[in-house]
Amino acid sequence: MLQTHEYIEDLAGRDGESVVLRGWVYHKRDIGKIRFLVIRDGTGYAQGVISKKEVPAEVFDLAGSIPLESSIEISGVVRKEPRAPGGFEMGVARLTTIHQAEEYPISPKEHGVEFLMDNRHLWLRSSRQHAILRIRSEVSHACRRFFDDRGFVLIDSPILTPAACEGTSTLFETDYFGEKAYLSQSGQLYLEPACMAFGKVYCFGPTFRAEKSKTRRHLTEFWMIEPEVAFADLDDVMQLAEDLIMHLIGRVLDRRREELKVLERDLSKLEGVCRPFPRITYDEAAEKLKEAGAEFKWGGDFGAADETILSNLHPSPLMITRYPAQVKAFYMEPDPQRPDRALCVDMLAPEGYGEIIGGSQRIHDEGLLLQRIKEHGLPEAAFKWYLDCRKYGTVPHAGFGMGIERTVAWLCGVPHLREAIPYPRTLGRLYP
Ligand code: 4AD
Ligand code: MG
Repeated sequence: MLQTHEYIEDLAGRDGESVVLRGWVYHKRDIGKIRFLVIRDGTGYAQGVISKKEVPAEVFDLAGSIPLESSIEISGVVRKEPRAPGGFEMGVARLTTIHQAEEYPISPKEHGVEFLMDNRHLWLRSSRQHAILRIRSEVSHACRRFFDDRGFVLIDSPILTPAACEGTSTLFETDYFGEKAYLSQSGQLYLEPACMAFGKVYCFGPTFRAEKSKTRRHLTEFWMIEPEVAFADLDDVMQLAEDLIMHLIGRVLDRRREELKVLERDLSKLEGVCRPFPRITYDEAAEKLKEAGAEFKWGGDFGAADETILSNLHPSPLMITRYPAQVKAFYMEPDPQRPDRALCVDMLAPEGYGEIIGGSQRIHDEGLLLQRIKEHGLPEAAFKWYLDCRKYGTVPHAGFGMGIERTVAWLCGVPHLREAIPYPRTLGRLYP
């Protein structure tokens, strides 16, 4: 076993103690008789001070020559230093190289995005990417926690599926032993029967869409958390969605403030989000777009530019309900007051971020659902099992899906989804 070492995040308040740290050389500075090495270990950054007077000549020389991103071990005494990252530094007594790095391709100078994306496996080490992905990890955990605490059962949905959930134009097709299969666009079709077994369920996993255009809001592989609730209507899941978002903001502000600071996130924007979130209909949203002079045609879906306008209207997320059924998925329950409208909701994050949640009440009548499957030109046979739960004790039910990357991008204040996932998959990018 390796000798024990400490993690930087545990060092606060340990002044005067002698510790061993392992990590990578993040930054170097030389002021003559003193050399500074900033070491990062994934939990934080610590400044090591190497004083020519106090260490053997080879340690001092090594501190000067060691390349950035080499892996090292340092030991010495922790002392208070308000100007250093974390408020402390280490007086280094011993420095050993674990591996001497080659010349590191990423430097503080400006690199093009394509270059950084090609080097995503290394870019993860940069403080900004590190902060975003720590927040992502917090958000994922907080999502699970939210549903677990409310008695939801986790139902893992399959990735290889025989049928489309969200339209046939974005399907990734694959061969399943001679049969056509598709990568899942959403776990919803599997959650609906499961909520008839467990009452309240959720799934959380990767979903796939063959998005053929390059935008800052679309990935071809993204993660979605999807709850589904039996005996629930549209209003119930809108309330649930609002509660989830408030929970996520609270968790990130509470536990990831340091990371938000690294990202220079304007915290007042997150702190300013309050309930109830504004709720408007599609018609009201269309009206607002007209007022704003947008080129929006009534009856269509909102485009990226429309979403940007709408999501800049309020400091809190905006919930838009009752879209024309024709622009939405086949499974949505029609509004009994106006059957050409769907009982659906899109939640748009503020500050121009656009849609982060899509959800609806589902059609629970077998005849109507079958009719919609036919109208949408979907293969009836592939949905036979899905129709089954409308045969045996069907009940009104509803749910939604929240895209993790879009939510993380908004919470972090980063403009492009590619930074909100460790290894983004987009049109034309499968590496690294
Ligand atoms: O609105 P969508 O397509 O809804 C569904 O898939 C439903 N079946 C969910 C449900 O009701 N259980 O997608 C839901 C969310 C969007 O609001 C967005 O946040 C995210 O998934 N999303 C994407 N994120 C990144 N890249 C893409 N290409 C995305 N497509 C959707
Ligand atoms: Mg949607």
